[in-house]
Amino acid sequence: MNAQAASPAAVSQTGPYFCEMPSDPCAIIMFGASGDLARRKLMPALYDLAFHSCLAPSFRLLGFARTKMSDDDFRKSAGEFLPKGQEEGADDAKKSEFLKNLQYFTGDYDDAAAFQNLAKRLEELDKEGGLGGNRLFYLATPPEVYTHVIQQLKQANLTKSKGDKSWTRIIIEKPFGRDLASAKALNAKVLEAFDESQIYRIDHYLGKETVQNMLVFRFGNGIFEPLWNRNYIDSVQITAAESLGVERRAAFYETAGAMRDMIQSHVLQLTSLVAMEAPARFDATSVRNEKIKVLQSMRPFTAESVWKDVVRGQYGPGQINGKAVPGYRQEPGVKPDSSTDTFAALKLHVDNWRWSGVPFYLRSGKRLAQPHTEVAILFKRAPHMVFRGENTETNSLVLNIQPEEGISLSFGAKTPGSQMLIRPVEMDFQYKNTFGASTRPAYATLINDCIRGDATLFDRADSVEAAWALVDPILNTWAGAAAPPFPNYPAGSDGPRAADDLTGADGRHWRPL
Ligand code: BG6
Repeated sequence: MNAQAASPAAVSQTGPYFCEMPSDPCAIIMFGASGDLARRKLMPALYDLAFHSCLAPSFRLLGFARTKMSDDDFRKSAGEFLPKGQEEGADDAKKSEFLKNLQYFTGDYDDAAAFQNLAKRLEELDKEGGLGGNRLFYLATPPEVYTHVIQQLKQANLTKSKGDKSWTRIIIEKPFGRDLASAKALNAKVLEAFDESQIYRIDHYLGKETVQNMLVFRFGNGIFEPLWNRNYIDSVQITAAESLGVERRAAFYETAGAMRDMIQSHVLQLTSLVAMEAPARFDATSVRNEKIKVLQSMRPFTAESVWKDVVRGQYGPGQINGKAVPGYRQEPGVKPDSSTDTFAALKLHVDNWRWSGVPFYLRSGKRLAQPHTEVAILFKRAPHMVFRGENTETNSLVLNIQPEEGISLSFGAKTPGSQMLIRPVEMDFQYKNTFGASTRPAYATLINDCIRGDATLFDRADSVEAAWALVDPILNTWAGAAAPPFPNYPAGSDGPRAADDLTGADGRHWRPL
């Protein structure tokens, strides 16, 4: 972590996202630049940084991909996803200034000659833009080619920093492996070429404002932390529900499924942030040391506990917002008898002093009734009820991550009138009312951190592996047995009935979506 990154994010008077100091000039080399992720997420994020004066004006972005394209075509395709109309940042002059810094390089990911040429091109860019040899490689390709790119970068002598004053870093997209063995193999491969301090394994959930706010909420306030343990908390529920289906990603999703795609990464990241101990400092080592301890405290699944505590589902045809939508097996590119999970739910135990006996219920799925991501802390009931009324709910503290962003605390209040009747009410904090809607894309936050050398919100080798170690027995148990009769939930519902049984068996229930 460099000195700049150690200081609190500098902001100017013009708005919370404007940087007081642009980052170091650098070349960003984006592998997979013609793909969907690059165009839809990464280009807008980089533009957002440029627009908010966070990128050095002389930065260069070099797109690298197999598709043949001219620089102009690349600029045009990147321009399609930049803000338009009334959107913040829809400023033609700024957009064309940004696009001018984009160049394109056609090459194969395992072609040594292409990487030699890339090395020469980077030397030229360094001189032309005065980039001081700073380089950020971004792996946004399909995961199958990660190791080819890394190998070629190493052979072309591009993985070491050019001198004491310059830096070379690499961002690696998820999925980082598809099981523990492949994640270990990938880590080994990357670590042959780069030092751990150069490697930024990205999980875009960690760049979301509200996810970062979980740390502030817990460790920047004195009032909640004393309650944050087994003495006061009955259970924790984490939901990442999407109403979208598999969209145009069937080729990838058929090899992944909800457990690999969402639970192993985003949902376990949220779980670690809820469950971790307070770090001594807010820096990459301290925060990540605490997160790994949580992952290592999670009770390993066995074949027996998988059948009892884990549920998988797949959506059938249904209705979302009154519109008929096809089932997963009818989506383009999906096998008609596919057994891929589009929903997964599980009960998890964190076996440590703080969480002993507190179940964590996690779920994520596609084509559910509502898009909604939240972390709900459900408190124990009052030990003895002296009032009558409808307060059958436990007190809850809900951290809403998306689409509404905020925090709400529910508790019982007296209903006005002559009787002592009690009813649940809510105290609500909404981001948009207090700060305005948060518009900074998660990717912008994370790329900005990486360019500034701050790895706090990125994954370390050990924690990626620990997350895979947890889900591996689930995936293996599923792979060794026939899937339940799929589809087992209609699109537009809250998920399969078996998921309700998971909480129901413990006398609890999921919060409605
Ligand atoms: C991605 C998954 O990592 O996260 C997608 O691969 C999923 O399947 C997406 O749709 C969800 O991200 P967000 O930010 O839209 O909640």
